[in-house]
Amino acid sequence: MCGIVGYIGHEQAAPILLDGLERLEYRGYDSAGIAVLSPEQGLQVKKAKGRLKVLKALVDDGKAVEGTLGIGHTRWATHGQPNDVNSHPHLSQDRSVAVVHNGIIENYVEIKEFLMGEGVQFRSETDTEVVAQLLEYHYKQTGDIMQAVYRVLHRIEGAYALGILCADLPDAFIAARKDAPLLLGYGEGCSFIASDVTAIIRHTREVSYMEDGEVAVVRADGIRVYNALGQSVEKEHSFIDWDVSAAEKGGYAHFMFKEIMEQPDAVRKTISPRLRDRRVVFDELKITPEEIRRMQRIVIVACGSSYHVGMVGKYNLERLLRRPVEAMLASEFRYCDPLVDENTLVIVISQSGETLDTMAALRQAKALGARILSIVNVVGSSIARESDEVLYTWAGPEIAVATTKAYSTQLVLLNMLGLYMGDILGSVQPAEYARIVEELQALPAKMEEVLENTERIKYLASRYFNHSSIFFIGRNLDYALGLEGSLKLKEISYIHCEAYAAGELKHGTISLIEDGTLVVALCTYAPLFDKSLSNIVEVKARGADLVALTDDSHKDELRKTVENVLSIPDTHTIFKPSLGVIPLQIFSYYMALQRGCDIDKPRNLAKSVTVE
Ligand code: M6R
Repeated sequence: MCGIVGYIGHEQAAPILLDGLERLEYRGYDSAGIAVLSPEQGLQVKKAKGRLKVLKALVDDGKAVEGTLGIGHTRWATHGQPNDVNSHPHLSQDRSVAVVHNGIIENYVEIKEFLMGEGVQFRSETDTEVVAQLLEYHYKQTGDIMQAVYRVLHRIEGAYALGILCADLPDAFIAARKDAPLLLGYGEGCSFIASDVTAIIRHTREVSYMEDGEVAVVRADGIRVYNALGQSVEKEHSFIDWDVSAAEKGGYAHFMFKEIMEQPDAVRKTISPRLRDRRVVFDELKITPEEIRRMQRIVIVACGSSYHVGMVGKYNLERLLRRPVEAMLASEFRYCDPLVDENTLVIVISQSGETLDTMAALRQAKALGARILSIVNVVGSSIARESDEVLYTWAGPEIAVATTKAYSTQLVLLNMLGLYMGDILGSVQPAEYARIVEELQALPAKMEEVLENTERIKYLASRYFNHSSIFFIGRNLDYALGLEGSLKLKEISYIHCEAYAAGELKHGTISLIEDGTLVVALCTYAPLFDKSLSNIVEVKARGADLVALTDDSHKDELRKTVENVLSIPDTHTIFKPSLGVIPLQIFSYYMALQRGCDIDKPRNLAKSVTVE
């Protein structure tokens, strides 16, 4: 949540910062701001409520702000409403220090009270302003900005990625990190900081990732990094090898649609390096077969769509491994005194690798002795770095807030892990193994097939976009799939919708079904097709309008009961959600489009959720 970018070099900073913020806008978009330092103009701060375009207009695309070093921020409000005053950067009282921040300063009230007692007047309602004011306070006391920074970092509690400009420091800016992502970028005669590599990839591909407690002094000719004790640290440099165009819309109206269409390729990239001679191989795993055999239980922890992948995983992994598998919301796992130990494999799933709840759950599970295997998309992210084992999804950058290709790659990777472990445990027989691998290889092409048939879905969206309440029903894997379909629809179209295990309807929810209620019935899970059909008949009898999804083998039968039937190609049961999710994503997309919603940046949301 919130995006930070910083630049120092020989070019004008403001246009570079604005360009970086545009790439980071998915992280938060209720306001934006920049601070630029120049010998002539001093420390200039420009900020504005609303989307980045408001700020861009205010500063004439950056031309109105001179200076070759600066920091920028795009905000997802936590403390204080989204307005001009609460936007970042925040200035200290005497305007000597400007700060941008991602995270939450948990003890800000206490610090604010202390500073107010010292006569400091606050302008905003934010937690961040205390950092700027406290910096000025210690700077005045010590006369040394680095000492002041260390004093502040010792005093504040919570999570932060910070960019700090000091009016007295014309050739550098400072960055610090704890529990919020921040990377350093090394260019030709210029240097950067950013929350995410997409912000700076046009300028450099050479980066390093800041660790908790580190402080960086960023200069045009290089970056010095210090640990929490102030000792110099040598950083390992990484090279970003993905194509810049991966983070562009490439002719599509929305990132979300582009990312939906990219799914077959993303899944292909996830599968192919791990499939050799029709065997699943994970060269990156250190866990031994013996250790896998020792794992008595598997717990999957994640949030949002990643949790929905975990729900599919619960059904599929239990089936493949014949071991208990539990999917838990990371935000619940943290506070439920979880029963995990050294015989538990905890699978952590996160696209961003930065979700705070997921990160906290990971740390807790690790402290309890569990083995942590994470499935992550962002290389070098916090979750990846703190896990015992990492499987990367190779989905490329996902920009739309609503996840699509990351979900699909997580799903396929989790299934592959199940197959791999099932083989080791002897719970997947050779014939079944071969059948699954065959379907795995065919999966990207089948996804392409689904993507070729979007017209009918578009038509259904045009028919139903005005509905105010929608139910998704399904059993077993279809229930897990419904959770994702429902989340996708609500997050981008703002339509109230719920997913129910179809068998549960009669225990209460069926009372909500009335004439014209739209029910999306998922019937891709063949073993329970007949049971699901009975549930369809029940809601139909109560006046529901139905859209149903099944596989090619069952579509004709379903059409006898339901007018609107969508179908996916037949595949192995475990891959049904991988195909089934696509029509649901497309349905959500067109529903949101018809309703004129901001598809890539839905209200109140942010891509990377780094607050609790
Ligand atoms: O980055 P993560 O996978 O950890 O994010 C978890 C959720 O915030 C995320 O999946 C969210 O639910 C998506 N925006 C839904 O489309």
